[in-house]
Amino acid sequence: MDLIRFPRIPLAFLPTPLMPMPRLQAHLGPKCPALFIKRDDCTGLAQGGNKTRKLEFLLGDALAKNADVIITSGALQSNHVRQTAAACAAKGLKCVVVLSQSVPRTLPVYIENGNLLLDDILGAQVHRVDSADDVAPTINVLVNQLTAAGQYPYVIPTGGSNCVGALGYVNAVQECIAQCSPQTNGQTYVVHASASGGTQAGLVAGNAMLGNPLRVVGVNVYKQDNQAVLANIQSLVTQIQQDCQLSFSAKPEFTLWHGYQGEAYGIPTEAGNHAVLTLAQQEGILADPVYSGKALAGLMDKCASGHFSAEDRVIFLHTGGATALHAYPDILHS
Ligand SMILES: Cc1ncc(COP(=O)(O)O)c(C=O)c1O
Repeated sequence: MDLIRFPRIPLAFLPTPLMPMPRLQAHLGPKCPALFIKRDDCTGLAQGGNKTRKLEFLLGDALAKNADVIITSGALQSNHVRQTAAACAAKGLKCVVVLSQSVPRTLPVYIENGNLLLDDILGAQVHRVDSADDVAPTINVLVNQLTAAGQYPYVIPTGGSNCVGALGYVNAVQECIAQCSPQTNGQTYVVHASASGGTQAGLVAGNAMLGNPLRVVGVNVYKQDNQAVLANIQSLVTQIQQDCQLSFSAKPEFTLWHGYQGEAYGIPTEAGNHAVLTLAQQEGILADPVYSGKALAGLMDKCASGHFSAEDRVIFLHTGGATALHAYPDILHS
């Protein structure tokens, strides 16, 4: 897989470990196939997560274009923003972030602790806005101000999800396959939380480049409108193929499970909270109620309903997010 022509800076501890989850597998009963976890929560950059792989290519691109300020955005408890702030600190870049109060949670810890506290510690310049609709206009104003002051801003979209960021997960496919030998007679599934779509788009594209050896499954943790989330992932894959000129040796495959996101993005579900507590108490691994917990709830549900065959192998790609647990102490009382 030739991604060498894309500028990239090392930020992540790679390869991330791939580990069996024997206790969780046994806990889920006889219908659960061989269960593994790929620890992208351990990418290492200020508590890690999936955005670090994307940032290797995004900051590579920014530096190649001589940017000296990175601007990005997200919800108040964005893991992407925290990892961007850390990457900028590590590379001596100014980091300006626009955070929207788009999740209707007003607990003091939600609006002060978790990822938000870390953004401040990492030295990001934080601008808070009331709603997601205010993000783009605020970024425009900031770009104009910084440019007028003689700086070179580079804007990273919410979640780092464009074709440059997604290259991080194109690259991760080969890493995952190298860790998966010996072959199984069944399918090898990679199941993960999907939101702004860059993680899944990268995995789908990388898989298609290699002839689809994996079954990539996203779990929608983002919007009630599953078709909209899927359409965004499909459009990102088209962009990756066309703009980055990657050639696929198989047709891209899209699977997005839905029904696990609950009321809205950022609002915990009972099943998601239960999954967080189960993973913690069976394997000693921390997930979060916004992303990885809801995705794991989907996977646990499919295991219980006999979705997989006994010869299949299932890898839960842990995309991180446990830093947000500090903003969700109510997880224990759900
Ligand atoms: C912990 C975690 N998991 C999964 C995702 C979803 O990744 P993507 O936005 O690439 O779909 C995110 C995105 O913010 C995240 O922070």
